[in-house]
Amino acid sequence: MIKKYFYNDNFYKKIIKKKKDPRTLKEYKKILKYKKIIKFVYQNKPLGTGDAVLKTKNIIKDKFFLMLLPDDLIVKKNCSKSMIQIHKKYKASVMASMNVSKKTVSRWGIYKLKKKMDKNNFLIEDVIEKPSIKEAPSNKAVIGRYILPKKIFAKLLSQKPGKGGEIHITDSIQTLIKENQKFIAHNFSGKYLDCGSMNGYIKSAIEISKL
Ligand code: G1P
Repeated sequence: MIKKYFYNDNFYKKIIKKKKDPRTLKEYKKILKYKKIIKFVYQNKPLGTGDAVLKTKNIIKDKFFLMLLPDDLIVKKNCSKSMIQIHKKYKASVMASMNVSKKTVSRWGIYKLKKKMDKNNFLIEDVIEKPSIKEAPSNKAVIGRYILPKKIFAKLLSQKPGKGGEIHITDSIQTLIKENQKFIAHNFSGKYLDCGSMNGYIKSAIEISKL
């Protein structure tokens, strides 16, 4: 479906001709621009976030890369841009973060804080995927946006399945943290829209229609 969005020229050309709305043409130009630089990889079985990232192993050339989970939208402020600034400032990997209510900790990756770097940035001591309320070291959750080191591919290759039998990116991040790789949690200032639950998805659609 995503690929079709970028390769649906006849459909877009027809709408542009019919509607004559300049906004449609503007969007189509964006699609043409981006499709030239997008490469697609496929995860044919849903074996976890880590398994999905591993599919990009031969495409990633730089030492660090940005990874975004598509069901975690952050709007109104460019969170990726702020994370890149933090990455440069602290020469570290970065994850978007937010405080959540204690009773929902088992829905998220939860981290333990080692040190406050500045107002919105925290060095991470441990991260654990979807802990029980009892296991959770805090109520600080990881949101699906990460700046990760290329080194993580080596960890993912030998990563054993974790919670729910999936290969979680969180488990390989924890391995890197234990090897003294710096990971910073960045409390972003944009508005978070959760599209990963039916309720959240409906609410998000309403919010987006208001933008
Ligand atoms: C994923 C991550 C989890 C993170 C969450 C944010 O979980 O595994 O650590 O907190 O995204 O949305 P998922 O939503 O895929 O279950």
